[in-house]
Amino acid sequence: MAETLRVELGERSYDILVGERLLAKAGAHIAHLLKRKQVIIITDDKVSRFYLHRLTNALEEQGIGYRCVIVKSGEGTKSFESFGQLMDNILEFKPDRNTTLVALGGGVVGDITGFAASVLLRGVEFIQIPTTLLAQVDSSVGGKTGINSRWGKNLIGSFHQPVMVLADVSTLTTLPKRELLAGYAETVKYGLIDDTTFFEWLEKNGAAMLAGNASLQAQAILTSCKAKASIVAEDEKEQGRRALLNFGHTFAHALEAETGYGDTLLHGEAVAIGMVMALHTSVAMGLCPQKDVDRVLVHYAATGLPSAPASLPVKWDIDRLMDHFTRDKKAKDGKLTFILTHGIGKAFVTQDVNPDIIRDVLAKACRA
Ligand SMILES: NC(=O)c1ccc[n+]([C@@H]2O[C@H](COP(=O)([O-])OP(=O)(O)OC[C@H]3O[C@@H](n4cnc5c(N)ncnc54)[C@H](O)[C@@H]3O)[C@@H](O)[C@H]2O)c1
Ligand SMILES: [Zn+2]
Repeated sequence: MAETLRVELGERSYDILVGERLLAKAGAHIAHLLKRKQVIIITDDKVSRFYLHRLTNALEEQGIGYRCVIVKSGEGTKSFESFGQLMDNILEFKPDRNTTLVALGGGVVGDITGFAASVLLRGVEFIQIPTTLLAQVDSSVGGKTGINSRWGKNLIGSFHQPVMVLADVSTLTTLPKRELLAGYAETVKYGLIDDTTFFEWLEKNGAAMLAGNASLQAQAILTSCKAKASIVAEDEKEQGRRALLNFGHTFAHALEAETGYGDTLLHGEAVAIGMVMALHTSVAMGLCPQKDVDRVLVHYAATGLPSAPASLPVKWDIDRLMDHFTRDKKAKDGKLTFILTHGIGKAFVTQDVNPDIIRDVLAKACRA
């Protein structure tokens, strides 16, 4: 059974389908959207081993033609060089403007496929089939696409909405536990931003969801996508409210920049730590009660989410961490923008932060 959620964006509106075993019926789900019964699938070398044949069988059932480009798994694939190679591989298949690209994989595959779709022949349509929890609750929804530069992550990109998102929770069975937990951090984020009821639900069901309960996973993904979709519908290009989705991210980006966007610290792990830093900052500024931080930390301990960078094999330099904030692409006119909170479910955007407090929170967390 699939549940459908509509992202309302006028003529760019689309459906998100969430459920078990959707991949096996992918052809039937997407056929009506295709301008031409011909797609180009982009996937990575890990995901392809598990799921490419399932997708291609489903396409064949509906008489949909396909070509495949298999990229290397990992963040390195978001480099300009790899992107050039990808475009070249796609063009070799002689696509036209009615060709649809299909992203089968995690956030990396989704981001490069979306970006490719936005520039290929000045724009073609694309479909997201996310296979990580992070991609299912976050990156596949909302239309942000992009690649990295040596100056930073996601600095080259576009807003390009998919025409459908198919989130098959059954694909999560093969996802490494660490990746699942990293995606879970983004799920918790929606509760912390503005949905206390969802946070309570996660307190009750999070552990079972992480242990593999597919129906709980589907419910959490739907709630997360609903939250993201409603924020995106209000503010597609991040002029205002969409910034709330960056809760914990200003801190996270600084930590990730220091650890090199690799296995030392996954994005979701950095976000988990960053959200705790945002909570501590809010407490230090007298905005948020300590008991809310304590409650969040209890949930982290119960699910295994990391809460501080001190445990990582990294020698943290607070000055360097502070430097990253001023370089964050979301810094406006040199002013630091942070998402702080009045408590669980009460996040807000502000430029009114004292750098000394931030420095103090960082120093404590890195020593903890
Ligand atoms: N566009 C957005 O709005 C947005 C939002 C958040 C993150 N992102 C981007 O997403 C990327 C991170 O995404 P991610 O965490 O999904 O990473 P990822 O795409 O690198 O996937 C993580 C790992 O899991 C493997 N994998 C994927 N699905 C699997 C499955 N079902 N079974 C087994 N292995 C599987 C992948 O091959 C990879 O090794 C980052 O580049 C980040 O910048 C984008
Ligand atoms: Zn994130």
